[in-house]
Amino acid sequence: MNHFLDILPTATDDLRSMIDHARAMKDARNGRPKGKADDEMPLDGRMVALIFEKPSTRTRVSFDVGVRQMGGETMVLSGADMQLGHGETIADTARVLSRYVDLIMIRTFEEQTLIEMAENATVPVINGLTNRTHPCQIMADIMTFEEHRGPIRGRKVVWSGDGNNVFASFAHASARFGFDLVFTGPKPLDPDPEILDAVRDAGGRVEIVRDPMQAVEGADLVVTDTWVSMHDPQSAKERRHNQLRGYQVNSELMGRAKPDALFMHCLPAHRDDEATSEVMDGPHSVIFDEAENRLHAQKAVMRWCLGV
Ligand code: CP
Ligand code: NVA
Repeated sequence: MNHFLDILPTATDDLRSMIDHARAMKDARNGRPKGKADDEMPLDGRMVALIFEKPSTRTRVSFDVGVRQMGGETMVLSGADMQLGHGETIADTARVLSRYVDLIMIRTFEEQTLIEMAENATVPVINGLTNRTHPCQIMADIMTFEEHRGPIRGRKVVWSGDGNNVFASFAHASARFGFDLVFTGPKPLDPDPEILDAVRDAGGRVEIVRDPMQAVEGADLVVTDTWVSMHDPQSAKERRHNQLRGYQVNSELMGRAKPDALFMHCLPAHRDDEATSEVMDGPHSVIFDEAENRLHAQKAVMRWCLGV
């Protein structure tokens, strides 16, 4: 059994085989109705717990549908309704859930919660987003880039905006999949230096370029995300908007990237803040392919976790 806690601690060969497997499973469905199971049902008889301590649309629905397509069953649990939210320890929750279910996916705040869940569960645990990282999203993003443009190795990816949890998983992926990553954003919202050090120690090439126009020069992929994440205080909204306005992904900025550059956003988006609707709905954008590929990529992640 394997936990899927982050991209950096996962072996490159395993990550590569999950992406390829996701592509193959997507192709195999080939227009099959969404509610119909796959030909293969590797999760037949298996129960999956999906725990959410924060809101979600994509993660919740894509995991739920993915498990059912593979013949398994799910239970969606809200952190606030569980004893977990009322003082039961994470370790005890992990031990108890392991007696009932075969796999746990958790979206939570602190990374430590995820780690304690994994250390104490006797079934695999998947990171469905923490304040620090969002690995399932980036698996879908790598799959999406490669579907449209071929191997991501050696390509230039530019992140414009907040150095947040989604950026951190992109940084992890840069070391494992071998692409060049440029962060452009205001200094106070720079990525955590610990993340950058770990990525560089693993051979990743991540650079910070303060000027967004200069940063996106020659980019194969331009990515952004919300300026205020779920774990950020709402009181920071105005300050962040002022800090980030110059890093909006608009047609002018996309015009500095390669002519065939792709645009990605994990969604949900605040249209015309971090990216204009013109870009989000324009010819470079693959935002809804990214959302779809959450389904396929996570099916591969779950199979890898369970070894089925
Ligand atoms: N991208 C993403 O994780 O979306 P949700 O918050 O809707 O799950
Ligand atoms: N950075 C965002 C991603 C949402 C999918 C957040 O954490 O709220």
